[in-house]
Amino acid sequence: MKAVLGSLLVVLMPGFASAQGATTGKVDFRTAVQPLLKEHCISCHGPTQQMNGFRLDKRSAALRGGSFPVIAPFNGDGSRFYLKLVGNQFGQQMPPAGKLPDSDIQILKAWIDQGAEWPDDLAGEGAPKAPDPGAMRLMAALRSGDGAAFTRELVANPAGAKASGAAGSTPLMYAALYGTADAVRQLVAAGADPNVAGDGGTTALMMAIHDVEKIRLLLEAGANPNARPDDGRTPLTVAASQFGTSAVVKLLLDKGANAAAVTASRTTALRLAAGVVILAWPDLGLATVAVIIGIVLIVRGVLFIVAGWQLRTLDRAPEPDPGARAVA
Ligand code: HEC
Repeated sequence: MKAVLGSLLVVLMPGFASAQGATTGKVDFRTAVQPLLKEHCISCHGPTQQMNGFRLDKRSAALRGGSFPVIAPFNGDGSRFYLKLVGNQFGQQMPPAGKLPDSDIQILKAWIDQGAEWPDDLAGEGAPKAPDPGAMRLMAALRSGDGAAFTRELVANPAGAKASGAAGSTPLMYAALYGTADAVRQLVAAGADPNVAGDGGTTALMMAIHDVEKIRLLLEAGANPNARPDDGRTPLTVAASQFGTSAVVKLLLDKGANAAAVTASRTTALRLAAGVVILAWPDLGLATVAVIIGIVLIVRGVLFIVAGWQLRTLDRAPEPDPGARAVA
């Protein structure tokens, strides 16, 4: 009965709700809505975590019905999705880190009021593309460090360089991770696109973060330094969080990486420290940059030692309380 009433409500509300939202222009899911979801929600409602069983990376899951649907098309005011953005009468306000700007909330509400249209190609549930055998062979050769097999395969079947293997991974990603800079160069020359993203939005650039030469090649081939995977960890935030990547950080910043972009939920002071210090003086001479990087590394070293010390204290079993033992 409840379910019937609910569906009746949803059926009855449309006209009313869309009349209310009529003042806003048409909201495009692709350019206006999905980027907001990716930036603010997917880290907790996506492939890795589904808080409250709710996910926003798959259309069918996000738009599932029920007596009180989370997203009720044409009815923003009656959608928990919207109600949780504006207040806490339905539990914790979303996102937990802090309310979105009103303009963003209005976009999301208008999208629901206009029917919560969600194009098929962004539904996140198309049948996964079958892995390309040529790409798989290239990837296997790279994975096992067999340079000769890699070159042989690339000569025999250059199309494999542009194809994808399992989970959307590409030969270029494998070259970035396991191969040599030369393998990266050869794949780019064979037409590999550095901006293809695998499942989860990861690109080759993120996998080359330990190797400044590969980063340089990928950036020269047009890799987007601000590509943002679903967890929000951009190449810059990844590089800034690791030792020995100062040259990579500098290169990414030179190519326009946005130092203000922080991860959706995993920002650390450490990453910010490295990013912000270098960003503040992007056009300094080499010596000054070296000094700044030195300072960053020292600060990081200290933080690292502190973190290690904290971990040890956590690991230590709690001392038995002598008072408690006396009572027992
Ligand atoms: C840091 C993690 C985190 C982020 C980021 C986050 N959520 Fe949540 N969300 C939760 C948790 C935890 C719950 C369960 C507690 C609750 O419902 O109050 C939840 C529950 C919800 C629910 C209720 C689902 C249901 O079935 O009742 C909605 C709707 C929701 N979130 C929407 C959003 C939206 C929209 C965003 C982005 C603007 C977002 N959340 C970002 C952690 C998060």
